[in-house]
Amino acid sequence: MDKNLHNFRKSYKKGSLTEDTILEDPMQQFGVWFLQAEKEPSIEEPNAMTLSTVDAQGIPRGRVVLLKEYSSKGFIFYTNYSSDKGQAIAKNNHVCVSFFWPGLERQIIITGTAAKISEQQSSTYFNKRPRESQLGAVVHFDNKTIVKPANWGGYLIQPTSYEFWQGRSSRLHDRIKYIKNNTSWRIVRLQP
Ligand SMILES: Cc1cc2nc3c(=O)[nH]c(=O)nc-3n(C[C@H](O)[C@H](O)[C@H](O)COP(=O)(O)O)c2cc1C
Repeated sequence: MDKNLHNFRKSYKKGSLTEDTILEDPMQQFGVWFLQAEKEPSIEEPNAMTLSTVDAQGIPRGRVVLLKEYSSKGFIFYTNYSSDKGQAIAKNNHVCVSFFWPGLERQIIITGTAAKISEQQSSTYFNKRPRESQLGAVVHFDNKTIVKPANWGGYLIQPTSYEFWQGRSSRLHDRIKYIKNNTSWRIVRLQP
């Protein structure tokens, strides 16, 4: 079955992104955009992000996971450490996460390195999860407290670059990139 999508085209007009309005710290800028995504009724899961990893054979794979925390330290998501993504990260800790918020005509792409958070931090989060979510992470259970499986936990992604994309009309999109420079961030405008 052949289908061409050549005429699928949209004009973006919801906002703009300029050097004089962005914040110096990319995590602060992320926070501003995240709050706006939270408030945008058409965005049901603003914290859904595509996590890309590269496995030991160099083969990339992207899948959606949920962002559960962000702070000046980075971005945390939870998963099964034995999963494909866990195995990929064990061999190559370079990852990419991206958010697409169509209702705001925005994308954010973050590259960084992923590292397991502490057992204690993972347990604290696990114990707060609803029982049904906890059950999803274990095979055997009874009616008592469900203990976090050892192979389940969080990763902290420490960012090395951020790209903020705001759709504009006539394809003159705004793209601003932050690149980590030791302890500070260099800001560059990219071609649309
Ligand atoms: C909206 C959405 C949210 C998801 N959230 C998570 C998550 O937070 N953690 C997770 O491990 N998998 C999550 N998944 C499932 C993953 O996309 C993926 O199917 C699973 O983790 C196995 O991936 P892997 O085999 O590449 O490791 C989510 C899927 C969707 C569609």
